[in-house]
Amino acid sequence: MIKYSLILILTISVFSMCANKKSVQYEFPLAMTEEVKKVNQAYAEQGLALYRVNCSKCHSDTIKRKELIPDFTSEQLSNYEFRIANKKHEDNLGETQLTQDELILINMFFNYKKKNK
Ligand code: HEC
Repeated sequence: MIKYSLILILTISVFSMCANKKSVQYEFPLAMTEEVKKVNQAYAEQGLALYRVNCSKCHSDTIKRKELIPDFTSEQLSNYEFRIANKKHEDNLGETQLTQDELILINMFFNYKKKNK
């Protein structure tokens, strides 16, 4: 019996950890149809995965085990100087490290991510 409760507790905690990691929310324009929202959310989620690989180590915080992602604007991300804006970007964000298509997906993510307030 104890064995089963242990397994249950373990399963629940693994699930809640995953839920935490996934807790990014999106905001879409009211006029957008459900179908278009779905497509855009799929792009945004690819952008989120790319953000986590390429950017989060320098830009995300973890507060009470919750991932805090900044609200970057598309102006900030599409600036032609973005890749060389500072030494760290210069060393990490060249077009061979992060393709233009990947940067566009990251931009989609920030476009639809619910703002932190
Ligand atoms: C190796 C560390 C590092 C990585 C990786 C990195 N950045 Fe940065 N980034 C910095 C630093 C340092 C600055 C300048 C100081 C600051 O504003 O935090 C900066 C500045 C910025 C700014 C300007 C912020 C402002 O206030 O004007 C944006 C936008 C940004 N980064 C986005 C990104 C995105 C998107 C990625 C991933 C594609 C990324 N960064 C990857 C270190 C990094």
